[in-house]
Amino acid sequence: MRNKNILITGGLGFIGSHIANELLDDNQIVIVDNLSTGNLNNINNPNHENLKIIKEDIRNVDLDEVTSDIDYIFHLAAMASVPLSIDKPVECNDINLNATVNLLKSAVDNNVKKIVFSSSSSVYGENKNMPLKESEPLMPMSPYAASKASCELYLRSFYDSYGLNYTVLRYFNVFGPGQDKNSQYAAVIPNFISAMLEGNQPEIYGDGEQTRDFVFVKDIIQANINAAKSDYNGVINIASGKKLSINQLFDIVKRTLGSDLEPKYLPKRAGDIKHSLADTSKMEKINFEIDHNNFEKQLEETINWFKTIL
Ligand SMILES: NC(=O)c1ccc[n+]([C@@H]2O[C@H](COP(=O)([O-])OP(=O)(O)OC[C@H]3O[C@@H](n4cnc5c(N)ncnc54)[C@H](O)[C@@H]3O)[C@@H](O)[C@H]2O)c1
Repeated sequence: MRNKNILITGGLGFIGSHIANELLDDNQIVIVDNLSTGNLNNINNPNHENLKIIKEDIRNVDLDEVTSDIDYIFHLAAMASVPLSIDKPVECNDINLNATVNLLKSAVDNNVKKIVFSSSSSVYGENKNMPLKESEPLMPMSPYAASKASCELYLRSFYDSYGLNYTVLRYFNVFGPGQDKNSQYAAVIPNFISAMLEGNQPEIYGDGEQTRDFVFVKDIIQANINAAKSDYNGVINIASGKKLSINQLFDIVKRTLGSDLEPKYLPKRAGDIKHSLADTSKMEKINFEIDHNNFEKQLEETINWFKTIL
């Protein structure tokens, strides 16, 4: 992607900052981020001449003005925490849904070419029909998941009503450098790494035989870029399509770090699902695939980053 005007909402966060860093040299980037969970340090060169950062709440900025010259939008700004959304459902709806509808309206009025939306596997709820296909019913179990599901429906309706091009990317468990270890997603990877680096016993909830579908943040970035470039309008799972148990993950992290710590098993957490696995066949719609031989290398890259911050 070159010589485009790009808006990244939530561009100072874990995933959004990777998108910004990747696209910054060859494009004009505008970031809107209120720094609620984002951090300026996530941007390699915050003073880059191609970058404008608007440190504002997405609910308060003039979205018509912000999108006036924009070609592509990567929309990631959100209350991205399930527990917080359960605490503050009205605020979650305001940030995640109302602001999105306003953004879509401005995108239509300013002839934005395409919007790529960061959704989540949480829209599937406790559906056990693995591997999960995009055509499965939406069964959100938290205000957060409901807000993502509602945004998906609005994106579709704006495509039908006004011709606004969109791709929804439903991420499974994202991990990689820059992830906040207090983040609720895939927190298991940052938790294992930071516990072992600090010499503490890592904790596993339940018997560790629960499985997850982990996807590296740099793959998420590539999926976003491919989605923006593609003609595909619709919803796509972004995941590895491989299941890894928490016990297997523990062994890999332990081996990679050369640690001799053993896990501490704690009672299963309420609401934790047993398995999560994506059907990834639709990723070809955006000409995207994941190299499955890289997991250990990606983990190593993540570990090396954690070593620099701990
Ligand atoms: N990380 C994952 O595993 C994962 C999985 C599924 C979906 N997602 C979605 O991907 C997106 C990015 O997630 P992330 O992991 O990078 O989270 P993050 O919390 O690091 O990033 C979100 C960014 O949005 C900003 N933000 C929050 N509320 C805002 C507001 N009202 N106005 C302006 N900016 C605001 C935050 O400051 C932060 O920089 C989110 O929409 C999240 O729901 C993430």
